[in-house]
Amino acid sequence: MSEPCKKMTLPGLFKKAAEGKPITWLTCYDYPTAYLQEQAGVDMILVGDSLGMTMLGYDSTLPVTMDDMIRHTAAVRRGSPNAWIVGDMPYMSYQPSVETAIRNAGRFMAETGCDSIKLEGGAAMADRIKGIVDAGIPAIGHLGLTPQSVSALGGFRVQGKGAAAAKKIVDDAKALEEAGAFMILLELVPDRLCQLITEQAKNCLIMSLGSGPHAHGQLLIYHDAFALYPKFKPRMAKVFADAGAVIREGLNGYVKEVTEKTFPASENWFGMADDEYDELLKTI
Ligand code: KIV
Repeated sequence: MSEPCKKMTLPGLFKKAAEGKPITWLTCYDYPTAYLQEQAGVDMILVGDSLGMTMLGYDSTLPVTMDDMIRHTAAVRRGSPNAWIVGDMPYMSYQPSVETAIRNAGRFMAETGCDSIKLEGGAAMADRIKGIVDAGIPAIGHLGLTPQSVSALGGFRVQGKGAAAAKKIVDDAKALEEAGAFMILLELVPDRLCQLITEQAKNCLIMSLGSGPHAHGQLLIYHDAFALYPKFKPRMAKVFADAGAVIREGLNGYVKEVTEKTFPASENWFGMADDEYDELLKTI
């Protein structure tokens, strides 16, 4: 029998990192998947605004609302009482002002029971991080490829390849740590840059998404890792199991069996006693 899951805490995350054990982090957007991820022992779950693309079929994350995020994050919490759950602040839920950021971060905590929030951006967003942390909410920064700014960044591409761009990411990471972020996600930056920032971080955990192995842990988008997003597979993502193929095969089987009338079989329905049925016939 597997060990009962223990609630992941902030000291628990720092302890793992201090012991040199990589932190495991996946995105998740629904109750049954959260249940499975917790059973697998995933440390952290990100209810990402990537759900706009993976679950709602938009072309970007920009149309996602706070109400979308609240509904999905609460479902994930119900499926995983013990993983450290991160609510991802959607587009324009924190950019307008510090007060907007604190109010929406507070909604996440109060209405979903998540453990922390994440928002995108560097030094320009440090005051939002500080405001949220001062309000007692653990906050995570997100640098490198930040999908809410994909238009300004020139598309989904590696960030910080040149020295000047890399220096800006180093400075942004410092600003977020000084503002109180307990964790920073580096998405799609060169491995050496990720390593440098991880080595310089004092009281902040650094996580990698496509940024190499030299971080305190790894994040993957669940739909990329299990071949569930039909539009494309990012180069840096590894497919751990082709769940899409398994589901497709099952769907083909369902359509075939219903069409050929081999489903349902007798074990798939419930009968009625003869006397009850005769009684019914008399009444109609
Ligand atoms: O929304 C999300 O899933 C994210 C990842 C791309 C890091 O922010």
